Amino acid sequence: MKTILDFLAFKKKNQKITMLTCYDYTFAKILNTSEIDTLLVGDSVAQVIHGYPTTLHATVSMMILHTQAVAKGAPDKFIVADMPFLSTRKGLRHAVESAGELMKAGANAIKIEGAAGHLKMIRHLVDSGIPVMGHLGLTPQSIHQLGGPKIQGRDEITADNILKDALALEKAGCFSLVLECIPEILSQKITETLKIPTIGIGAGPHTSGQVLVLQDMLGLNGAFNPKFLKKYAQESQSTLSATHSYVSEVRAGRFPTKEHSYE
Ligand code: KIV
Repeated sequence: MKTILDFLAFKKKNQKITMLTCYDYTFAKILNTSEIDTLLVGDSVAQVIHGYPTTLHATVSMMILHTQAVAKGAPDKFIVADMPFLSTRKGLRHAVESAGELMKAGANAIKIEGAAGHLKMIRHLVDSGIPVMGHLGLTPQSIHQLGGPKIQGRDEITADNILKDALALEKAGCFSLVLECIPEILSQKITETLKIPTIGIGAGPHTSGQVLVLQDMLGLNGAFNPKFLKKYAQESQSTLSATHSYVSEVRAGRFPTKEHSYE
């Protein structure tokens, strides 16, 4: 299993870090046998698995349940679990308890969106033995404050603020940093400035690694086609075609046959 030391070593060696989201036991078992470096139990679980419109609906108990399932299926993978919406905003004690529950559920690290108001808490978590991954740029928990899912850091002032936040998160003790939906020139600058590795999604090719939502990468969500996404399979089509064959065979009496029946 990878550790936070491998993340730093990967950056030094110029070796890309690979990360995918994972929310359940079945996919975790498959990914456990893959070469992927790390799995993210993202709060996107609220959208992808539970059908909510935003990540605001993820809760600590939801994150714990999915982290437990992924940890059972992928015992050999480094697992990062998201701190959900507002779980870092109810005081240090609540944040420590929530992070602790996620670690006991099987996470090896937690991820926190944004820097403002989080720096002391991150230092406290790190000093308490909990590795923290930062997340800047488009932070979906602030989607309403940001005015929608927009590319962040397009002008000089906001780009500079994101760079300053990245440096502050590194100083607070984060071992790595997700950069979501920012111009590639900015993610390159941040990656070159920081010692810790950056992991991009919609942040271009110059980050230290890449993360995608597993279901998006597999082409399970036909309607979701942002510029940054590459679909490596067309699983919604293969699921539909398998379902069509199943329904046709059952209706025609071609399944089950003797082959699938007990004597
Ligand atoms: O929850 C999630 O899926 C994430 C990734 C987009 C980085 O935070």
